[in-house]
Amino acid sequence: MVMSGSYSTRALSLPVSVMVLAALCLGCANVEVTQYHDRGALATAAPIATAVGEGVFAEGGNAFDVAVAVGFTLAVVHPQAGNIGGGGFAVVRDGSSGAIEALDFREKAPSAAHETMYQDSTGQVIEGLSTVGALASGVPGTVAGLYELWSRHGSLAWEELVGVAASLADTGFVVDDYLARSLNDYKLELTEFEPTARQFFPDGRQWQAGDRLIQSDLAKTLYSIAAGGKDGFYTGTVAEYIEQTMASFGGVITAEDLLAYEVIWRDPIHFRFDSLDIYSMPPPSSGGVHLGQILKLLEPYDFSRFTANSPGYIHLFCEASRLAFADRSEHLADPDFHDVPVARLLDGDYIALRRALISPEHASSSGEVGPGLTASPESDQTTHYSVCDRDGNMVAVTYTLNASYGSKLVVEGAGFLLNNEMDDFSVKPGVPNLYGLVGAAANRIEPNKRMLSSMSPTLVMCHDRPMLVLGAPGGGKIITVVAQAILNFTRFKMSPLETVRQPRVHHQWLPDVLYLEQGQFSIDVKQTLIRYGHTIEERDPYSDLQLLHIETDGLMTGASDPRGRGTVGGY
Ligand code: DON
Repeated sequence: MVMSGSYSTRALSLPVSVMVLAALCLGCANVEVTQYHDRGALATAAPIATAVGEGVFAEGGNAFDVAVAVGFTLAVVHPQAGNIGGGGFAVVRDGSSGAIEALDFREKAPSAAHETMYQDSTGQVIEGLSTVGALASGVPGTVAGLYELWSRHGSLAWEELVGVAASLADTGFVVDDYLARSLNDYKLELTEFEPTARQFFPDGRQWQAGDRLIQSDLAKTLYSIAAGGKDGFYTGTVAEYIEQTMASFGGVITAEDLLAYEVIWRDPIHFRFDSLDIYSMPPPSSGGVHLGQILKLLEPYDFSRFTANSPGYIHLFCEASRLAFADRSEHLADPDFHDVPVARLLDGDYIALRRALISPEHASSSGEVGPGLTASPESDQTTHYSVCDRDGNMVAVTYTLNASYGSKLVVEGAGFLLNNEMDDFSVKPGVPNLYGLVGAAANRIEPNKRMLSSMSPTLVMCHDRPMLVLGAPGGGKIITVVAQAILNFTRFKMSPLETVRQPRVHHQWLPDVLYLEQGQFSIDVKQTLIRYGHTIEERDPYSDLQLLHIETDGLMTGASDPRGRGTVGGY
């Protein structure tokens, strides 16, 4: 295999079947290059990860092999969110059987976790305890998840797929402007814990584009995983390092918790929208259920009356999102601990009753439509990647440390960041998490339970043929980003690039605010929305959508969100 170390040469030498230059203006901001691939394609948030994926395709790997190599590579080159110390979800299609399944590798609460673990003796939530440091971490699921994808569907050697990432950590890679800025922005937090400071600020200097980041401890851990499979992480030296870090920094994850961690295959959420079949993540993610609710609420509307991003459309989208999010906090949680009424929430009669609450030109009031959510301070640090190949395999992976750089704590000796996913539980009923999401009893902390998520890796099939693979980061906004992408692509007939570029709007029921991306909407649009009764607020650009399109002739193309620094590649 030509994978280790030589990813950049490999990427540059890749043949491309058809290349259409929409604008030949290299170096300009609005370069539009659409490439079509006939063997396989991928879209990721980091150019090095995309190049690694191309290398795996070039070696004859399938979409699952690529997904495994990219998952580990992002843990090295995109440490904000790429991870082995976090967890996530994958929605996948096996091209040979046509089966579509959802893999849950979400973190779990440690067995010593309990409902009031983030509260003091008077019941007050202790600030920072569920977001920073060892106690904020759930038992990581990523390594078990990637191992499961490979065991079931991979075709190349595991050692080699993991080995690419290990050698990148070992010999280092050139930091780009995006990562340099991100590390510098988080310097204060990343130097709070000694092992983290040593890893990311070894000599205390600010990062500059062109510097090399070497992560020797992480390399050792990745070599251990390459040699030992998931046991190379959940047992032995790496597990001991995790236990020691827990002991030193006040965490509660034990060797037994690590040994007991298991992924779960689940039936995806499946619903019809127009003539399409859409598959997304079921609980413990709320993503699939609410994506389904939003699209089903909007399905009967005649979109030929609207242009994309017109106030009439934004209003309807906002009302549908409000209704969907009103259901979220009350009903959604880990289905192994709480009876989630998935079928009822997506039932046609229920959706029709809810749709009757939507008025075409008047904003409803969130106070009238049910319990649930509050303000959503934003961080962009989950990451999604999409992969597909000519054999009909489709892989949508969204995985995360939760906040940027997770708990900010690197496991001493093992070189990877731990998640702060425990904050996705209701730390106390009524107290909002990092994303302003307030949970009910359904999402309370219980030992070995998975915390509620919004991640929405999604596959779209058209008449049984693969059509789209997509997903995004953004906390609660993930759901509306994915819903808008599907509507822009299918109803407004946009290209992949237009789809990912579109301005975004978001409403999550409470607070009763319609968020608009800053600087993207005209005064007219804003005034009309205000006239309809919406309270609007502008937000910095958010999320980092990764979308692939499989055309009817089987050629594959895609687009990576211009808000991030990701790329599309293929073979
Ligand atoms: O699982 C979830 O829904 C969150 N932990 C995702 C966090 C996220 O997307 C951060 N990026 N904005």
